[in-house]
Amino acid sequence: MEGIILAAGKGTRMKSELPKVIHEVAGVPMVLRVYNALVAAGVEKVVAVVGYQKEKVAEVLGERVNFAVQEEQLGTGHAAQVAMPFVRDANVIIVSGDTPLLKGSTLEALCMRHLETNAAATILTCFLSNPYGYGRIVRDGYGQIIKIVEEKDATLEEKQIAEVNTGIYCFNTEELKEILPLLKAENAQKEYYLTDAIPLLLSRGKRVETITVQDEMEVMGVNDRLQLYKLTKEVYRKKAETLMQEGVTIIDPETVYIGEEVVVGRDTVIYPNTFLEGATVIGSGCVVGPNTRIKDSVIGNNSKITYSVVLEARIGDFVNIGPFAYIRPGAEIASEVKIGDFVEIKKSFIGEGSKVPHLSYIGDAIIGKGVNVGAGTITCNYDGQAKYETVIEDGAFIGSNTNLVAPIKVGKKAVVGAGSTLTEDVPEKALAIARARQHIKEDYVK
Ligand code: UD1
Ligand code: CA
Repeated sequence: MEGIILAAGKGTRMKSELPKVIHEVAGVPMVLRVYNALVAAGVEKVVAVVGYQKEKVAEVLGERVNFAVQEEQLGTGHAAQVAMPFVRDANVIIVSGDTPLLKGSTLEALCMRHLETNAAATILTCFLSNPYGYGRIVRDGYGQIIKIVEEKDATLEEKQIAEVNTGIYCFNTEELKEILPLLKAENAQKEYYLTDAIPLLLSRGKRVETITVQDEMEVMGVNDRLQLYKLTKEVYRKKAETLMQEGVTIIDPETVYIGEEVVVGRDTVIYPNTFLEGATVIGSGCVVGPNTRIKDSVIGNNSKITYSVVLEARIGDFVNIGPFAYIRPGAEIASEVKIGDFVEIKKSFIGEGSKVPHLSYIGDAIIGKGVNVGAGTITCNYDGQAKYETVIEDGAFIGSNTNLVAPIKVGKKAVVGAGSTLTEDVPEKALAIARARQHIKEDYVK
């Protein structure tokens, strides 16, 4: 079984500069979600039909698929025809790039029915409370499907039908190849409809099957931003529910946005307005939020992160971050560290038990264990051309408002006086002080 993803359309109703299928649902482009469903169903070869801004769609799908280019978007039937030269297997699944919540298990069930019944076509249908906009499944008095009629071509009576075409099908490749050139664009949209293959197959005495999916969210197509929002909300709601069932406390699931891939340990408490994205793993017993964004990061156990942004970082156990910290890519923070308010950490290692409690910038630094970095300390890592490293060894004490002009090293247990601008290394256990002396002018004001 091979797969075809129809993804050449512009998506006019999105009112976007971007092709519809690359819009994201909970951080993952729709077309990639559809591809993942195909893979989950065991489909190994996939052809994507691209057209409108094809480079952008190709960038999202990458090397994983073959691309068939549909220069002009003449309809879903035409799109399928463009893909056919790439298809070798006896049967093919066709899906739209705009049904992002489709599950692999549903595609598997569709394929099973198709193969078991040896049908020429098997259609995945769904009963919708509001079928507006979808193609309707028209059946005869015996319940046998006769045709699919699009909203724009439907009679008033047909518009009452609640059973819709999900746009997801299995076809026998040979049968489909024969039928596609026979499609005509004689309809309201002047397009070649893939759905018209059904009456053509039936008229040739071929078998057409249907299978119905229960969960309407799963096959909901996204045509506009409102539908995009509804599905996104659904993904976040489900994820929050799953996590709660697994032992995570979420104060208000309506206001957290947790990606499906994210892992959260037991007894972690998530406060409102928290975004957990990408490949993020959070241990147990943590407190996260409110107002926190964590992306592609690993957090240990029993750590607290509040009012902060953490991107591509690794954070140990019993770490306290925030409020208002910015932990940037390449930050590696060992256990029992405190990172306080208005602190930015970039591409730096902070050793166990160290503290950077207030108003600091730490970039390209290696900080040992038990180091105290005073308020307002800055690593001057950039001279306008290149970046340099700062090393602060175990147990050092950096006084407040220190500038460390890199490359520079502060030795073990060294002490730096407040307000220093250091340009040279400080030996172990030494005191470095680099600031102007205080002068007193008695009776100056008089
Ligand atoms: C289509 C179905 C409709 C079904 C609905 C389910 C047809 C004629 N109608 O309608 O029965 O209920 O999906 O969501 O098939 N595309 C191309 N090339 C084209 C036209 C479309 O690649 O020339 C792609 C689009 O990018 C999109 C998919 O095909 O991913 C579906 O197209 P769309 O215009 O959204 O079809 P619907 O009107 O939703
Ligand atoms: Ca659609």
